[in-house]
Amino acid sequence: ETPVCKICCIGAGYVGGPTCSVLALKCPDIQVTVVDRSELRINQWNSDKLPIYEPGLEEIVKQCRGKNLFFSTDMIPALKEADLIFISVNTPTKTFGLGKGRAADLKFVESCARLIADVCEGSKIVVEKSTVPVRSAASIVNILKANTRPGVSYQVLSNPEFLAEGTAVNDLTQPDRVLIGGEESEEGKKAIAALSWVYQHWVPAEKIIHMNTWSSELSKLAANAFLAQRISSINAISAVCEATGADVSEVAKAIGLDSRLGPKFLQASVGFGGSCFQKDILNLVYISESLNLTSVAAYWQQVIDMNEYQKTRFGQRIVQAMFNTITDKHITILGFAFKKNTGDTRESPAIYVAKHLLEEGACLHIFDPKVEKAQILLDLEQTEEKTGASCVSIFDDPYEAAKGTHALVVCTEWDQFVTYDYQRMYDSMLKPAFVFDGRKTLDHAALTKIGFHVETIGKRPGHSFQVWIKILFLERIKVDVSFRCWQEQ
Ligand code: NAD
Ligand code: UDX
Repeated sequence: ETPVCKICCIGAGYVGGPTCSVLALKCPDIQVTVVDRSELRINQWNSDKLPIYEPGLEEIVKQCRGKNLFFSTDMIPALKEADLIFISVNTPTKTFGLGKGRAADLKFVESCARLIADVCEGSKIVVEKSTVPVRSAASIVNILKANTRPGVSYQVLSNPEFLAEGTAVNDLTQPDRVLIGGEESEEGKKAIAALSWVYQHWVPAEKIIHMNTWSSELSKLAANAFLAQRISSINAISAVCEATGADVSEVAKAIGLDSRLGPKFLQASVGFGGSCFQKDILNLVYISESLNLTSVAAYWQQVIDMNEYQKTRFGQRIVQAMFNTITDKHITILGFAFKKNTGDTRESPAIYVAKHLLEEGACLHIFDPKVEKAQILLDLEQTEEKTGASCVSIFDDPYEAAKGTHALVVCTEWDQFVTYDYQRMYDSMLKPAFVFDGRKTLDHAALTKIGFHVETIGKRPGHSFQVWIKILFLERIKVDVSFRCWQEQ
């Protein structure tokens, strides 16, 4: 007898969808049903156009859907049948009440626990896959136990997900590790063994690690906090580079060659985005404060603050470089997703930059290869009416977007941006034409040669002779003023 025959996953989002698709692919002996209360999302999973873009995902869904992979809004039968239930619902930052703006809102996780308690019979393994505050499993256990009917038993496990968007299929098929937290009891161990058995269909046993539930929950928050911290650290150094003439790419290379540090996640940028980093660090900050660990809270808060600083600096730099005014100027935004190979815009730094430019009175031409037009308008709070009057136009073609604009602002590191014909764009733009590379991926020497004024993160701009004279003149004035202030003291 196999330990798990049927799996139900609640939440058909960026985690539930790809995770269950890979699970179905790797475990043909298990029936996987992904349920969601959103009819739209489920219909999309059952259609030719999936609700999320993830390289390699469509092929897997097409291969498994209707065989051992099902998407449904009919939650009750799927829950009743399942031996193992994943909870993969969203856990957003609270927008109201106690902990507003920081604590994780667990209402969706709680409603899943209540539904499971209401409808399930027999013994079930309930797996917390959503990212949750440490000790959340205790609340799930509490709700389940308080509502348990005779003959029903539950084991609650923590199994956080470490996939990154844009590389989800690869991260899921070849994970660095799979983390399972559970109880020390005999039943707890049996449940851990059952979930491990599922993963062992494709993950080597030594990569599946077991630990206590609270360590497992905290490890997820800690991993995201460490990853984001590296980005904020290199971004902090990028500001020093811009002020001194050092180049952050060279510094990152030098740092990354230290085998204790390693080269990954040292790419200075316009700032990190995505649905996880900010939310999970805010959550960690809130937990630390609740535990009276104020220094710990302040330490991690700084990772977020540095990210805000980076986004602000980039926005301000665009305005400054364009002669301190962008009112009525047309600016092209290349890339709106929070990173390449995804259509997701949650917390995308592009939203921040675009809003900043709009507030300064600019008109925006936006192009992204994967983000839907409606999503961009929603993120920028532009209604159809407002769009007519104000200044956001969305393009399907990067060359059309660039036409007649003063500047290109790169917000996402899409590979295809590197190979565009920038001479063609330059010829169709107003002069002087600017490039602001928020991702440090373009060939700046080639762009400068074409005639662009190029600015990027973590490097002083390569100014033309006239601009250098102006800067020297301005800096001289600053020096004179401070010298006089000093003399007067
Ligand atoms: P998402 O918003 O894309 O998907 C969540 C889905 O859950 C939605 O489709 C929503 O309709 C559904 N849902 C919510 N409450 C429900 C309920 N009571 N019943 C049925 N369906 C319900 O979220 P996501 O990005 O997949 O993230 C899910 C969790 O995984 C979060 O806790 C997140 O922090 C974590 N996580 C996300 C990523 C990522 O890259 N996105 C990576 C690792 C972990
Ligand atoms: C992250 C974690 O990597 C993943 O393990 C977790 O499960 C979910 O959160 P994700 O947000 O999808 O994944 O993407 P990630 O690759 O981590 O990038 C997050 C943001 O940081 C993006 O905006 C990216 O462009 C930015 N980034 C990343 C940098 O600015 N510099 C880097 O060196 C790396």
